[in-house]
Amino acid sequence: MPVSDLMTKIVSLCKRRGFIFPSSEIYGGLSGCWDYGPLGVELKRNLKDAWWKAIVHHRDDVLGLDSSILMQSNVWKASGHANNFSDPFVKCKICGKHFRLDKVWDEMGKSAWVNSLIKEMTGEKDTSFLLGWAKKQGKSLAPNLALVKEPEVTLSWITDLNQSWGGPDLNFQQFIGRMGADTNGKARVPCPQCGEPLPEEGIAANLMLKTSLGPVEETAEKVYLRPETAQGIFVNFRNVIDATSRKLPFGIAQIGKSFRNEITPGNFTFRTREFEQMEIEYFAKPNEAENFYKSWINGRLQWYLDLGIKKENLRLRPHSSDELAHYAKGCTDIEYQFPFGWSELEGIANRADYDLKQHAQFSGQDLQYQDPVTNEKYYPYVIEPSGGVDRAILAFIVNAYHEEEVNGETRVVLKLSKELAPRKIALLPLLKKNADIVALAKNIKSDLQKTWMTVYDDSAAIGKLYRRQDEVGTFYCITVDVDSLSDKQVTVRDRDTMKQDRVSVDQLKKYLTRLL
Ligand code: GAP
Repeated sequence: MPVSDLMTKIVSLCKRRGFIFPSSEIYGGLSGCWDYGPLGVELKRNLKDAWWKAIVHHRDDVLGLDSSILMQSNVWKASGHANNFSDPFVKCKICGKHFRLDKVWDEMGKSAWVNSLIKEMTGEKDTSFLLGWAKKQGKSLAPNLALVKEPEVTLSWITDLNQSWGGPDLNFQQFIGRMGADTNGKARVPCPQCGEPLPEEGIAANLMLKTSLGPVEETAEKVYLRPETAQGIFVNFRNVIDATSRKLPFGIAQIGKSFRNEITPGNFTFRTREFEQMEIEYFAKPNEAENFYKSWINGRLQWYLDLGIKKENLRLRPHSSDELAHYAKGCTDIEYQFPFGWSELEGIANRADYDLKQHAQFSGQDLQYQDPVTNEKYYPYVIEPSGGVDRAILAFIVNAYHEEEVNGETRVVLKLSKELAPRKIALLPLLKKNADIVALAKNIKSDLQKTWMTVYDDSAAIGKLYRRQDEVGTFYCITVDVDSLSDKQVTVRDRDTMKQDRVSVDQLKKYLTRLL
């Protein structure tokens, strides 16, 4: 299935079946913000529960925390966010669209005019095709592109097109740059929206969202909505040690909302302005940090695999030294192959002793760790696995989306794992006009819903009901029919295999406990 079709189908399914809605939709929406509907919120809770259990409940060395979103502004001075948390951007001086400097070429790949141009130029072509495109499609799609405004001049710079186009030397960026070349023939990066050459220098824009505390504007204290949950953990390091007498190594975990004024939110819920993070700060002796860094990378990768992400769609990407912050000893991203390309799900960083030292310096508090045996005092190193809830949800939905042909019809199944599936069971009466069948189905439902997320649905014929449940990933459909009234048995249908088992009502809970 073409990549764009898959994303379109997923966005449509999410809206239609109540997973994810655009924020404030009745007012035209709000860029970079999304709402989770009745099924989305269940999926999100299941995902966060799975993380919390794996990280906090099933380990002895990680404690939980829930710190406030609003924090004292000094926190962000100490962390470096007040001065350095920015993505340089460029603004097209004609159409006014903003682009992150490091993402302009990603946007180019999605640009309507670039895609049209590439389509036109596929195969053995010469400059006359470019001229034709400039005079037709180019006029409406990229009116400010040099090739469209002055095709003859632009084409005079690319006389070697026949040699380079499609040949081994083809460089997409150089080719597009030359389509936007200035009058001296210098290649320029054209605006993905309208073709106008973009400014060559980026402007730094702080990504933190500001608000103010206090009722009177003039005296109100300016504060930020946190751009990461991590700093709430660092500023509570001393509190947690004092309250729990923890010895190294140990970690503090937190799940919560973060906010970033992203320049180009997009790819559905992948890059948003309001999102949730799942973060761990794991404090260790400096000489043990490297080993913990490696084991957290493996552990976090395994977590995605255990919840059903296909191995071939996950990879580790260690950062090169020029990508690393000056204090960081290492950073590795866990990437997922989304329909729009390999992209970061989670980062695991060895942050050395930077954060605690910074907060000690800015707050004047002693944030060193004192070894209870040797009395030695030092700043622990920190390993930080930091993932996004919304990105993980999107990856799990993409990973689970499955289409197959059944009896000449397309069956869409969301093959979410048992832990994540928002609904585990659906009770479907075969005849909704038979009061005894309905009563039995509803009784079974009220019994099962005490243990599993269970729904009752009699709003369509059975075939349609099955399809609806498959599409949202319901694990088992239980059908109550006329025979059920006499033999006290029901039919349990497996979502993935569509295999049906006849199970007696009094054994149903036992049967499902074995499976779920
Ligand atoms: N404390 C480290 C930190 O915040 P990050 O790489 O900026 O590191 C961690 O963010 C994770 O948070 C990312 O891997 C991603 O999953 C998620 N995330 C970051 N920005 C996001 C955004 N604008 N929209 C959705 N998720 C985002």
